Amino acid sequence: MATLLVTGGAGYIGSHTAVALLEAGHRVVSLDNYSNSSPLALERVQRIAGRPLTAVEGDVRDAALLARLFAGHAFDGVIHFAALKAVGESVAQPLAYYENNVGGTLSLLRAMDTAGVRRFVFSSSATVYGAPDLLPITEQAPVRTTNPYGATKAMVEQVLRDLAAADDRWSVVSLRYFNPIGAHPSGEIGEDPNDIPNNLFPFICQVAAGRREQLAVFGDDWPTPDGTGVRDYLHVVDLAAGHLRAFEFVQRHAGMVPVNLGTGRGVSVLQLVRAFEAATGQPIAYRIVGRRPGDIAECWADPTSAERLLGWRAEFGVERACADGWRWQRRNPDGYRTKGGIT
Ligand code: NAD
Ligand code: UD1
Repeated sequence: MATLLVTGGAGYIGSHTAVALLEAGHRVVSLDNYSNSSPLALERVQRIAGRPLTAVEGDVRDAALLARLFAGHAFDGVIHFAALKAVGESVAQPLAYYENNVGGTLSLLRAMDTAGVRRFVFSSSATVYGAPDLLPITEQAPVRTTNPYGATKAMVEQVLRDLAAADDRWSVVSLRYFNPIGAHPSGEIGEDPNDIPNNLFPFICQVAAGRREQLAVFGDDWPTPDGTGVRDYLHVVDLAAGHLRAFEFVQRHAGMVPVNLGTGRGVSVLQLVRAFEAATGQPIAYRIVGRRPGDIAECWADPTSAERLLGWRAEFGVERACADGWRWQRRNPDGYRTKGGIT
């Protein structure tokens, strides 16, 4: 049994990973400032797993708080989710993104180094590949970001590479997620966007729930089989399991390695809409509109490194992710703000 610091533990992916860690018998300390989440998520994590965790409210940029945390717990490793993640907002507020995502990670790495805790799993993103030349995308593909959010992920990866090169006591996996969707099958935790969702899956869920009238499909003139954008949608429960495997990996290996987490399958916007309708019985009204600036046609992972290095592969398909995501949405139409909670 290990003790892990999970930053951003109350967030969408952090909460699902906390369940996986607790269910595997590990101790979890979550550090979250709740800037994009609710402490209620952590109560539900404990209910699902049937085990307690330690929830600390605070910011990863707070060096004094980190020093106290590392003095108070014998951490075996850190899984670092805490970050801002809205691409459009990062273009408008680059300083906030560099401060939080790069500055926050530097502060955390410094505290880890001082405490002698050097096992680190980082939340990176397929966004570091920009518009790919070749599909499927391997980890050897060039890193070229197109917005400040993506740049923060690429910068942190550079820091991690330099750190591992300078000191072979560091052991780091940078997980490059493709498109996480869905929710825990209990329907108790899930994605809880504050505002109008930017991403496809939460938007579909809100159309199904009657919160939005129809989905705007951003272009049907892409060079793809049905003309709509193609992505690699990954069930968040699979993604959470990938973190457990990555933590096991950093316990046994030194150095820094980037690893794609995806299914290896591309699914178009219209295929996802149809999969959602089939899995839930809910019709999704949509209309085709113009392309979204900055979008790419297609993006899916070559997940063979994840299988070879971590022993991980995605188990669930999009149908299952749709059914599970819809259960969360239906039971919590207003996310964690839903009055009365789960019905
Ligand atoms: P999220 O916003 O749900 O979770 C992030 C959590 O970090 C939130 O609970 C937020 O309150 C917390 N947080 C933010 N800044 C903090 C700070 N300075 N100190 C302490 N806590 C802080 O997002 P998510 O979807 O769970 O994403 C988790 C990680 O995965 C992020 O690093 C994100 O960039 C990355 N990622 C997400 C996706 C995706 O599609 N969701 C894809 C690729 C990568
Ligand atoms: C987004 C992020 C990216 C992140 C990735 C994984 C943006 C601009 N990019 O990209 O940084 O790494 O998620 O989480 O936010 N679509 C519609 N209508 C909608 C929303 C989306 O048609 O209302 C289409 C898009 O054009 C795209 C597909 O659905 O073809 C998926 O979009 P989205 O969920 O935003 O993911 P990404 O574009 O991959």
